[in-house]
Amino acid sequence: SPALRVTEWSDVVDWWPRLGPASEKYTRGVVGVATGSATYPGAGVLSVGGALAGPTGMVRYAGGARTEVVRQHPSVIATGRVADAGRVQAWVCGSGLGTGEESAAELRAVLAAPVPVVLDADALTLLVDGKLADRLRDRDAPIVVTPHDREYARLCGESPGADRVAAALRLAAWMNAVVLLKGDRTIIGTPDGRAYVNPTGTPALATGGTGDVLAGLLGSLLAAGLAPERAAAAAAYLHGLAGREAARGGPVTAPDVADALRPVVGRLG
Ligand code: APR
Ligand code: MG
Repeated sequence: SPALRVTEWSDVVDWWPRLGPASEKYTRGVVGVATGSATYPGAGVLSVGGALAGPTGMVRYAGGARTEVVRQHPSVIATGRVADAGRVQAWVCGSGLGTGEESAAELRAVLAAPVPVVLDADALTLLVDGKLADRLRDRDAPIVVTPHDREYARLCGESPGADRVAAALRLAAWMNAVVLLKGDRTIIGTPDGRAYVNPTGTPALATGGTGDVLAGLLGSLLAAGLAPERAAAAAAYLHGLAGREAARGGPVTAPDVADALRPVVGRLG
């Protein structure tokens, strides 16, 4: 059906924002990252790593793992709180953030910003716990949710089942959000019933933390101004290629995927 397509390399080439002589760090886009915590600093490091591989010119980190994030990524400005982050053009929120009241307050601050957001992992748990999922329908700026199957089941009250395209589209319509349903063939579904299938997935990605890298990259693409379904389809595509590239060097860890993204992005020209 014309509403279902497989993402291609040429799509990503077409969509990718190019540098020009007049490029400036702020006009390239600023992405805000509210992930990680003292308990899970790695989630912050990995999602920032994904964001730094994208087209934006600046990453602002507003999670609870400032010391670790800045040690690993010295180019990042780390404020520690969403309210202190200043102007950002898209937010990434969730992985390793925690699910307590402070984390819920940070999520509310992210959702109050009039910019696109990526909600992953703990942010999805907070949506369920706060019974917020169906109250985001009227948010003006786009939302992209990135559940794996268990997160999908918690959000929807049922597993995706065999028809994963239909599953992604159901959640997208219900939440009025773009859904990136992770799996061996990741599906991107839109609220108006269009879907992309990602062909680049690899089981090499089946290792803890690769989802955090994906969320960061996706946030960068949103901050750079891509439409949410294109940002999601492009992020999944490049993430899969990076997983394949990383696997050439032996068993893959999530930081390898973030590192491998850079040369993959470099091939976009
Ligand atoms: N084939 C292709 N891609 C795969 C496969 C596979 N067999 N398995 C996983 N992937 C990809 C997914 O599509 C997704 O992009 O790897 C990524 C995994 O992301 P997540 O499921 O979000 O896993 P991640 O968050 O990185 O690590 C596991 O999730 O359940 C929590 O608490 C748990 O910390 C743990 C974390
Ligand atoms: Mg995850």
